[in-house]
Amino acid sequence: MLSDELISKINKEKTKYPIARAAVKSALRYAQEEHGWISEEVVRDVAEVLNLETIQVFEIATFYDLFYTEPVGKYQLRVCTNVSCMLRDSDSVVSHIQKKLDIKTGETTADGKFTLFEVECLGACGGAPMMMVGNEFYENLEPDTIDSIIEKLGASE
Ligand code: FES
Repeated sequence: MLSDELISKINKEKTKYPIARAAVKSALRYAQEEHGWISEEVVRDVAEVLNLETIQVFEIATFYDLFYTEPVGKYQLRVCTNVSCMLRDSDSVVSHIQKKLDIKTGETTADGKFTLFEVECLGACGGAPMMMVGNEFYENLEPDTIDSIIEKLGASE
């Protein structure tokens, strides 16, 4: 199930740490890049490569919310709804996206392109309200900017 390239990356990570368990997060990050989410099969395969018990990988995959244990859209819209963003009306950001994409928080659009999440502080409070998509931060969100971000991402392959 894991590609040869992924197995090789995980083995390389393993050499960086005194114990294999310390390489689990990196291994899962690479696995998620390749598979889009962390299925039970991926957990089992990563555990096998690292020579760990499946539960040791599973508990890390389910602890961090950056790992998806269910399928998600190509783009994950992670809207911060913590204090600074909430005070700058992140609720409107969330409801605007829900309406535009016709999904609720935690759901994925029918075309499989977008999943909406509400997340805790992402450390960009000065740009509130904000969201993270992939590795990009989008700050000072307003309806127009949200629309153009979604349209740009939706148009890309
Ligand atoms: S509260 Fe939203 S980035 Fe900090």
